[in-house]
Formats: sequence, structure tokens, C-alpha cells
Amino acid sequence: SNGGSEAAKRRAGEAAAEAVEDGDVVGLGTGSTAAHAIRVLGRAVDAGLDVTGIPTSHQSRQVAREAGIPLVTLADATPDLAIDGADQFCGDDGGPFHLVKGGGAAHAREKVVDTAADRLLVVADPSKRTDSLDHPVPVEVLPDAAPVVEARLADLGGDPTLRAAERKDGPVVTDNGNLVLDCAFGSIADPAALAADLSALAGVVEHGLFVDCTAAVYVGREDSVDVLE
Ligand code: A5P
Repeated sequence: SNGGSEAAKRRAGEAAAEAVEDGDVVGLGTGSTAAHAIRVLGRAVDAGLDVTGIPTSHQSRQVAREAGIPLVTLADATPDLAIDGADQFCGDDGGPFHLVKGGGAAHAREKVVDTAADRLLVVADPSKRTDSLDHPVPVEVLPDAAPVVEARLADLGGDPTLRAAERKDGPVVTDNGNLVLDCAFGSIADPAALAADLSALAGVVEHGLFVDCTAAVYVGREDSVDVLE
């Protein structure tokens, strides 16, 4: 939905879905690329594969329901693996991989499910790849805390913008009832240090930096997939 070709996203999703084995509990990621993986898994379930899913958002729950994947919660099971998209990623073959997520405002639940899984497989098209992360970092904040967090983000060298809704006047409200500040930091030299600084701010529910928690990145192309791991 943001530059990369649909064919490339589909190939990435299909390839990652092939890593799912009979009996697996799968964290189901958010966004257009992860949705391809969810639909492939739904067809595998139709064909008899025993797979249950744990959605990461309203959106992925909806896609999974339509695909016919039985769903459970983190109270019922621990995901063996998670398949999720990214807004940007860095890391060469051999890793480590760092991500910016939250373009769908789902990064809080995504981070809980993705890091609960034994392995996180990221699905992306080549437009998401960078040598150094510079995508604005989505920061989910308690609504009342937004002005305070905005000031603290500026203290950290960031340039925060309250994410606006596209189809109404007013802000985006997350699945958890919170707001999102998209905070530009320019090129992020030390993602782990910035992640720690953001996590330490009162009123921040979760931020979209995913530091070294990715087992593999499936980069789809028009007619092939590169697997970085
Ligand atoms: C959702 O909050 C994001 O983290 C998504 O995973 C991300 O925006 C990727 O979406 P696409 O696959 O549609 O680009």
C-alpha cells in the first residue's frame, strides 16, 4: 500500500507462510504484506493444516477471520513464530535486524505478540530496506500525556507530529484508545539507545522501534524472494 509492488509483497508473504509447520501457533501481523501471509495460511488450514493464529490488531483479526484461521489469545498459547510487516528495516544477511513499525498504529500489540514468539519473520518489499533507519518513529501515547511526551521527544532531538485521521477531522485513535505521535529523528545512529530513551518516557505506551528481535527478513521481489537471516 506504500510504494512496493503487490507482487513483491505477495511473494514475501507466501515464502514466510511456508515456514509454518503443522501444529504451530502463529502471530499474525498487520498491514498489506502480512495479510498475504495470512491468506496463504488460511488456504493451508482449508487443506487440513493444524494452525492457530494470534492477531496483532483489529485489521489482522479481520483478515484472519475471513481466511478461516482459528484464533486464540496470548492467554491460551505462546506463538511459535510471528509473521509481520515493517515500515522500514536495516540489517544485512547475518543480522542484526532493526525495524520501524507502526504505520498501521498497531505496533504496541505487534511488539507484544512478535516478541512473545520464538521467531519473528518479517515480510517486506525492497522499498522498505535501508542502511540506516530514518523513518519517523510512531510513538503511542496515553491521550492526556500527548503534550508532555511531545516536549520530551523534542528534548531527545525528535520532531513529533500528532497522527491525524484520514477520514475524519481529528487524530488517529489506536486499537487501545490512545494517540500516535510520529517522531522524526533523522538518521538513527543507535536504535537501541533511542529505544531505551523512548521506553523510559512516562505516558509512552509503546514505540515502533523493534531492535534486534527479528530472526529473518523475507524480501519479496517481482519474481523471487531473498531471505536474510
Ligand atoms: C502496522 O502497525 C505496521 O507495523 C505494519 O506492519 C507496516 O505498516 C507494514 O505494512 P505494509 O505491509 O502494508 O507496508
